[in-house]
Amino acid sequence: MKTDKKLTVNSFRRMKRDNDKIVMLTAADAPMANLAASCGIDIILVGDSMAMTVLGYENTLPLTLDESLHHTAAVRRGAPKAFVVGDMPFMTYQADINDALVNAAHYLKEAGADAVKLEGGMEIIDTATRFTGAGIPVMGHIGLQPQKVMTSGGYRIAGKSEAEVKRLLEEAKALQAAGAFAVVLECIPANVSRKITDALDIPTIGIGAGVNCDGQVQVVNDLLGFFTDFVPKHAKCYANLTDIIKQAFAEYVSEVKAKDFPADKNSF
Ligand code: KIV
Repeated sequence: MKTDKKLTVNSFRRMKRDNDKIVMLTAADAPMANLAASCGIDIILVGDSMAMTVLGYENTLPLTLDESLHHTAAVRRGAPKAFVVGDMPFMTYQADINDALVNAAHYLKEAGADAVKLEGGMEIIDTATRFTGAGIPVMGHIGLQPQKVMTSGGYRIAGKSEAEVKRLLEEAKALQAAGAFAVVLECIPANVSRKITDALDIPTIGIGAGVNCDGQVQVVNDLLGFFTDFVPKHAKCYANLTDIIKQAFAEYVSEVKAKDFPADKNSF
């Protein structure tokens, strides 16, 4: 949906009803957010994956609330009209429900986000209910949960057994009942995400969850070929910025060494 009108949580339910696919993309800085918004991206997620793709951490766990808020505010400045979701980092909402609420409020009050995203199933339902009750829109995130990489022993596909499918369905319905306006399904077999999508009134947004979700999300660095250490199976490279950037840097180095840069036109 390419529109200049500000989207709201209601827009996404409407898009699900109208079978109008929701397009979400991560961004962590103002210029990228501006480009995303100008190309019809419906939701910009300031994902905690930036811990790895931007800040150089090994996984998402070290990301702090301040780092996340700092980048969320930058995204808001770059895309003043976009629907922006701040992704709450590990341990900013799990330990204490009152602290969680205060932390979530920073996203709306200071960073200018429209909503927050929380990873988790039944263990975060009380927190999600508290947020929505206080007026903070919540996007859920079930299936593979990178913040639980230490307990899961790696990044694993979810929903492979009947018991897991049942649990995922229960979690998705509980998030809807808690007032979540959408739920991310990460790395779930396509037939399972179809079941979840059909069972909900709120939209599902998939990453590695097949084409039947109500929307899709990609990590911008994967999509642009800008983080090539590891490219997950669910990612599609729509461009290869790594090669383009490397070529530009190499040309710059060689022109400076050869005294071809700066030329007269670059000098005063
Ligand atoms: O942080 C992130 O990029 C995410 C997406 C994978 C949904 O949570």
